[in-house]
Amino acid sequence: MTRILMVCLGNICRSPLAEGILKTKLKGAAHVVVDSAGTGAYHIGKGSDPRSIAVAKAHGIDISSQKARQFKASDFDTFDVIYAMDTSNYNNITRLARTAEDSAKVKLVLNEITPQEDLNVPDPYYGGDQSFENVYQMLDQACTTIAKKYI
Ligand code: 4NP
Repeated sequence: MTRILMVCLGNICRSPLAEGILKTKLKGAAHVVVDSAGTGAYHIGKGSDPRSIAVAKAHGIDISSQKARQFKASDFDTFDVIYAMDTSNYNNITRLARTAEDSAKVKLVLNEITPQEDLNVPDPYYGGDQSFENVYQMLDQACTTIAKKYI
């Protein structure tokens, strides 16, 4: 069993898309669990941003039942791999690490397709629909690479 956590700031734009895309690519493989969380507390309990729901739907993925939650230190116990959407989230997560083993679980998601370049999935919150499509395309590529490890 492998448990993968996708993390952004609000858990309403980027990481819900990453969760939905990766789950879809894994085709419900029972040996992989995928979840998402945000490092911030602003949107706890809320559904995903309507623009993320729309871009997912346009690509045949339903993320409308996801609810935002905040990343917590115990997620290091639950998850094997923690993918941060950008370097700010990466730093927010590793700040909560209790051990070197915890820190080693945290990776930048785009390093799966552009290794060691430390590129960010840009925050689309203040952008337009094109920003959400751009995020979708980046995550689609990264999740293709991630899914290949498990199927
Ligand atoms: P996310 O996008 O981190 O991809 O969910 C954001 C959502 C909300 C805010 C920032 C980013 N915000 O500042 O409220």
